[in-house]
Amino acid sequence: MSNFDTIIYQKQNGIAYVILNRPHALNAYNLKMRDELYQVLGAIKDDPEVKVAIFRGAGERAFCAGVDITEFLTAPSPIIARQARWERDVWGLFLSLTKPLIAALHGYVLGSGIEIALCCDIRLASEDVQFGLPEPQLGIIPAAGGSQTLPRVIGGAKALEILLSGRWIKADEAHRLKLVNRVVSRKELLPQAERLARKIAHFDPVAVSYAKQAIIRGLDLSLKQGLELEARLADLISRSH
Ligand code: COA
Repeated sequence: MSNFDTIIYQKQNGIAYVILNRPHALNAYNLKMRDELYQVLGAIKDDPEVKVAIFRGAGERAFCAGVDITEFLTAPSPIIARQARWERDVWGLFLSLTKPLIAALHGYVLGSGIEIALCCDIRLASEDVQFGLPEPQLGIIPAAGGSQTLPRVIGGAKALEILLSGRWIKADEAHRLKLVNRVVSRKELLPQAERLARKIAHFDPVAVSYAKQAIIRGLDLSLKQGLELEARLADLISRSH
């Protein structure tokens, strides 16, 4: 187990657990968490023992309530604070991971909280989940990939409505919109995420990684290019056995 200040990182039976750990501030994403998340993502990428990862928030109330708004006060403007935050390409690294990532979401999932969830492949949520993108109300826009990842998951019109209206989305609607794969009780959230992770961890990691790449990379391609990608990956995997 590696303990950082803002994240707990654990590994067990091929599963990496990433726990956002600032429960006193609803796991708000601060600069320290940015730096530590970057290290954790690097560890997930490079460690062959890690087959799959689960992301969740510590405490009862939130997965993550967005960027730490108190840090806005330490910079001349929210925009400059944001520039400092994005110096490292955390989000590029997150989205480039080829191992499956599961988000177990409860309570508040706001701003960069949603964006972290959208960097994951499978999103499970508990009944008390609430999603929101308050950035425009703060005079900024999502900059952790959310303006691109959200419409790819729920479609442009809905993404625009949520972002522009500042309206919050509860569990039922999140499920209807396909923002989350499944809604379960709070008690069942982690057990279900673990069951899924254990199943995936038993599969051939190369097949799992290629399957993820075929779908994720394919989403940005035409059908013809996507079929070529699939054929290339299928060929590579048949040669590796
Ligand atoms: N950054 C820093 N601290 C945060 C935070 C954030 N994004 N969100 C919550 N906190 C802190 C609060 O300041 C409070 O700290 P305190 O106990 O030292 O006063 C603690 O977390 C609990 O939050 P509180 O506001 O008391 O809980 P609540 O139930 O009344 O409200 C929210 C919950 C999520 C509605 C409210 O905290 C909120 O609006 N947070 C900001 C969300 C936001 O704008 N995020 C930025 C997105 S870009």
